[in-house]
Amino acid sequence: MVNHQSVNHQSVNHRTVSHQTVSHQTVKHQWWKESIVYQIWPASYKDSNGDGVGDIRGIVDTLDYLKELGIDVIWISPMYDSPQDDMGYDISDYEKIYEKYGTLNDMEDLINESHKRGLKIILDLVINHTSNQHEWFKESRSSKTNPKRDWYIWKPPRYDENGNRQPPNNWGSYFSGSAWTYDQLTDEYYLHLFAESQPDLNWENKLAREAIYKSAILFWLQKGIDGFRIDTAGMYSKVQSFKDVPIIFPDKDFQPCKLYHQHGPRIHEFHKEIYERFIEPFNAITVGEVGHSTREESLKYVSEEAKEMNMMFLFDVVEVGVDSRDRFRYKGYDLIDFKRAFHTQSSFSEGTDAWSTIFIENHDQPRSISRFGNDSPEFRVQSGKALATLQVALTGTEFIYQGQEIGMINLPRSWDIKEYQDINTVNYFRENGSKTGDNEKLMDVINLMARDNARSPIQWNSSSQGGFTSGTPWTRVHDNYEQINVESQLHDPTSMLSFWKQAIRLRKQYKELFVYGRLEILDWENENIFTFLKIDERGNKAYVVINFTAKSVNFVNLLPDKTLTLILSNQSKELSETQLMPYESRIYLVQ
Ligand code: NOJ
Repeated sequence: MVNHQSVNHQSVNHRTVSHQTVSHQTVKHQWWKESIVYQIWPASYKDSNGDGVGDIRGIVDTLDYLKELGIDVIWISPMYDSPQDDMGYDISDYEKIYEKYGTLNDMEDLINESHKRGLKIILDLVINHTSNQHEWFKESRSSKTNPKRDWYIWKPPRYDENGNRQPPNNWGSYFSGSAWTYDQLTDEYYLHLFAESQPDLNWENKLAREAIYKSAILFWLQKGIDGFRIDTAGMYSKVQSFKDVPIIFPDKDFQPCKLYHQHGPRIHEFHKEIYERFIEPFNAITVGEVGHSTREESLKYVSEEAKEMNMMFLFDVVEVGVDSRDRFRYKGYDLIDFKRAFHTQSSFSEGTDAWSTIFIENHDQPRSISRFGNDSPEFRVQSGKALATLQVALTGTEFIYQGQEIGMINLPRSWDIKEYQDINTVNYFRENGSKTGDNEKLMDVINLMARDNARSPIQWNSSSQGGFTSGTPWTRVHDNYEQINVESQLHDPTSMLSFWKQAIRLRKQYKELFVYGRLEILDWENENIFTFLKIDERGNKAYVVINFTAKSVNFVNLLPDKTLTLILSNQSKELSETQLMPYESRIYLVQ
């Protein structure tokens, strides 16, 4: 029997299943597993002083909004002093705040004001590299005998058969070109897996490690933060032979070099050292951005027994249809690939002492509605709610990226490459843009996949610049701010924002099912609909059905002999027993 009486998503009846404490848990319950984490990318969040750049005061001003949304933890992307070549992932001083974002005082206020409201704060820990403007690097490059020379990775040139100077090996940077830059001053190259201005620290050097710990970790834990998101956490330990990597892309001079820097020989030793000396004593939490890796490799970082980090981001979903070595080599995907990715991610920790995360957006990813839903005016809200339904039902700590809660979408396709600011996109376009000027195909993929899509300013209201700033924004505000903004959604019960609030409440209310439950996909072969069960340790079940197409499809109840009670729906009309509307999503409790 299907109980649809309470189909209206504003008045769903939650009373049919009671939840008692489970006495024999195989999955250990922890507050951070049940938390909703909200990522703030400061430059584009909220500008409080009219200089066109988001700032820490702007974050403080919106803490009540985040609390109301149901957030428990705020992750702040780098707010440290930086020349901003990679938007703060190039740090010149871990103990200072980037001037346009504010001061140390502002950060202390943010920590206090968050704690007052029961919100925790985690910071981005970027310690694979610094900026080339960091004092450590300035000293390191000054001479071969400087005591900090060995804090970074320096190698002499190679010379080809014609006597031309070449980089020490064929490693490619993530941001195009060689991973080595020549420094005339000492006639050596330094390694940078990312931009030229982001030299990699040499983790083999104990003094360098101690300096990183003191400045980047201890300094902030002592200020009272609650943990870290660990940037590029799998890359610190390089294979010390620094040999050429095998050729993967014959059309490129420099090659993806993960083989020799991802999960390197000493990586687990380093993470254990950080955990034991700093994270555990401060009772802090950590989430690692370890990068693409197999389950076996991932478990080495996040098994509780390993004592390295609490959880990590798995990339299965955000890399669906993408070549993980080059985001712009886009292959496309179908719903079955999508299901497989969610299955891998959501069942990652099953039967282990590890834990995982659920996310489909962050500052490195395009907007999820444009990528996995449908960003046309007709289906934007519906498909956004369908994606929210999916996410709140899955196992792992849930991460939401700023603007996701109001359904922000990718930049308009009509915008010129000049509107894109990200070093990754800009360098890629420079390297791959056609000399004939015919770049339509390249712009299609850039518009779909570029990180810039997640970096346009948050649209707070329908006033000029979407209320993000009273000045001139550092990057262009999306043209759609009058249609998509926080203010217009706050009091509209049918809005994306209201739906997120409701969905988050539901996830917390039925946490045994959604946060901790096991995922069982019921319709692997179906190319239109995604249907699955979440099953908790006591055998309680939730039945989730989502139409991932822009057309109405037949709805066949796969559990005809059960009583189903609707607890979440993204429709405002009466539900059909036989049809699912475009992008319709439902969650039922099963009895
Ligand atoms: C991963 C970060 O998420 C990304 O934004 C950054 O460019 C690189 N690490 C380098 O720090």
